[in-house]
Amino acid sequence: FDLKNANTLGLAAIASHFLLLSKPGQLIELSQSPELKALSRLVLGGGSNLVLPEQINALVIGVALKGRRLLREDDEAWYVAAAGGENWHEFVAWTLAQGWAGLENLSLIPGTVGAAPVQNIGAYGVEVKDCLYELTAYSLADGHTQVFSAAKCQFAYRDSCFKQAEAGKWLIGEVVFKLSKSANIKTNYGDIEQELAALAQPSSASAVAQAVINVRQRKLPDPAVIGNAGSFFKNPIVPSGLREQVLAVHPELISYPAGPDHYKLAAGWLIERSGWKGRQLGPVGMYQQQALVLVNHGGATQSDVAKLTAAVQADVKEKFGVELEAEPVWW
Ligand code: EPU
Repeated sequence: FDLKNANTLGLAAIASHFLLLSKPGQLIELSQSPELKALSRLVLGGGSNLVLPEQINALVIGVALKGRRLLREDDEAWYVAAAGGENWHEFVAWTLAQGWAGLENLSLIPGTVGAAPVQNIGAYGVEVKDCLYELTAYSLADGHTQVFSAAKCQFAYRDSCFKQAEAGKWLIGEVVFKLSKSANIKTNYGDIEQELAALAQPSSASAVAQAVINVRQRKLPDPAVIGNAGSFFKNPIVPSGLREQVLAVHPELISYPAGPDHYKLAAGWLIERSGWKGRQLGPVGMYQQQALVLVNHGGATQSDVAKLTAAVQADVKEKFGVELEAEPVWW
């Protein structure tokens, strides 16, 4: 099973086994199949945050679970459920069309609803955890169902239990969002305010979505045109002391307060200043318009990506004393 077109980086990858899951009960059947029960299992969502190896000796499970609906509403909020296989952006657009605000800043993020909680997707001052009420997951081992409250998901910056203690154990089947009836639009991140003003529309959640779409289309490469997985490194969170050391030498450093005695540094800036913006190593490189995005210029494999990752990390470490952590999931 060729997965080259199933990962947005466009890495060459062949899986020994593949199953498209259209009902959760199939996971129970799998655990009873003599041929398949011994294989390890990997869940493939939109493939937009993955670094795949060339050969995958495992059962790769694509998620075709579909559906979205209003579960209930109370004075405070709408509770909206979406199946794991729904396209994220289409789901966001649908909520906005119903008049339910909250997810607009997360417009145009590639991938699926089920993948969104895994890395706690975020953009323009909002993270999916801000609106996530609970989710239903199915065990990859035996198919049993478990509900995870938002607290149980242990969300953090680009992180959740599904990347930590629970990694590789669950398929996220349905996510329930709590969309507040008194949600305020959030426009204070970066260019959003300015973009919104340029739209010359009354400000509304839908207008914010349009502003976000415009900014993203300007800054981020379209995976259909050039292979990429969005931001390739996390913005590092460092102690104030380290930030001051860097600032002493580089007063132009871009950083934001991030909790007591810590700052988040702009990884894109660190990478750019390390000379990697627009630079290639083999078939991969850091994007010319946004140094935080690793791009595949064609024909790349996981080992090409690993080499570039290590080279960028080493140069940023040498120049600034800061460790960069890759953001996507590596299989
Ligand atoms: N910058 C540079 N050079 C670059 C890139 C960025 O100097 O080559 C500077 C920018 O000028 C800006 C700062 O770095 O002052 C931050 O850049 P930007 O606002 O573009 O955001 P980011 O930190 O690069 C993060 C998320 C994105 C998200 C945007 C908007 C992470 C790892 N990335 O990027 O998320 O869309 O903010 O909220 O937190 C993703 O996770 O895949 C992703 C695209």
